[in-house]
Amino acid sequence: MEKPFHRKDLLGIKDLSADEVLGILDTAENFREISSREIKKVPALRGKTVINLFFEASTRTRTSFELAAKRLSADSVNISVSTSSVSKGETLVDTALTLDAMQPDCIVVRHSSAGVPHQLARISKAAIVNAGDGTNEHPTQALLDAMTIRERKHKIEGLKVAIIGDILHSRVARSNIHLLTKLGASVRVAGPRTLVPEDFVHLVEEGLTVSENVEEAIADTDVVMILRIQKERQDSAFFPTLSEYAVHYGLTQERLALAKEDAIVLHPGPMNRGIEIASDVADSARSQILDQVKYGVTVRMAVLYLATGGRISREDE
Ligand code: CP
Repeated sequence: MEKPFHRKDLLGIKDLSADEVLGILDTAENFREISSREIKKVPALRGKTVINLFFEASTRTRTSFELAAKRLSADSVNISVSTSSVSKGETLVDTALTLDAMQPDCIVVRHSSAGVPHQLARISKAAIVNAGDGTNEHPTQALLDAMTIRERKHKIEGLKVAIIGDILHSRVARSNIHLLTKLGASVRVAGPRTLVPEDFVHLVEEGLTVSENVEEAIADTDVVMILRIQKERQDSAFFPTLSEYAVHYGLTQERLALAKEDAIVLHPGPMNRGIEIASDVADSARSQILDQVKYGVTVRMAVLYLATGGRISREDE
């Protein structure tokens, strides 16, 4: 069954209903096999234009949005802030209005400040897709994480998921907590007290468990999601040294053994090997890190398709 996607923009998971999240995931399922074909291209977005506007570094997100657009036959343009007129002092709003005047169908934006995609959505005719805004949200990361979990566990409802690490600075954690709780998973977050925000306490009522004890959080879980230590967002010391962080909070084989026997490991990347995750865990059969990257292209194909007028496919209706 198909139905319209009633949003102009994709700004975060928080404002989506569980049905909308499932609709995006089911639409992505329909696009999955395109990337396995010899000719990885369909005409779904022929004649549409997508601009990737990244004010922060990215390997996975930017490349996968560009590949997603190309696999759907859209024209895609990457704007590098260092070579754009932003470097001459042009404001964010003027940059957005300038790009919007070129009549793109979609602008994908990443920025270090929370709320920038929301600001652009108010002034742009083009659909705005949030590719990560400060510490706020990274909706397509949570969607690709959900697709990876569904692929291995065939469901999300009822799963126990531990999110470990630098929760405070993590837009990935926020989007995942919203998504996983909406879809009925039980979520535990753990990390140093200084890296778990106070404002998460209100989420406890929605089934979130907050702990400083990594072993307690990992015990009997189906999914262990490890977050990167975001040194670029830390202007003060949140823990004594990286090696102490690794000792007390890093995911080792010993800690992973506390999870269920068939538990899977996720990490959004880029990884700090030997700090938040041991190399032998990252490279183990339980690690889904490269599948996350693979499904990143698929999920972003679905998001671009829906943001530019495509219809949601629901599998169970
Ligand atoms: N996970 C993620 O957002 O990675 P990039 O910063 O490489 O895009």
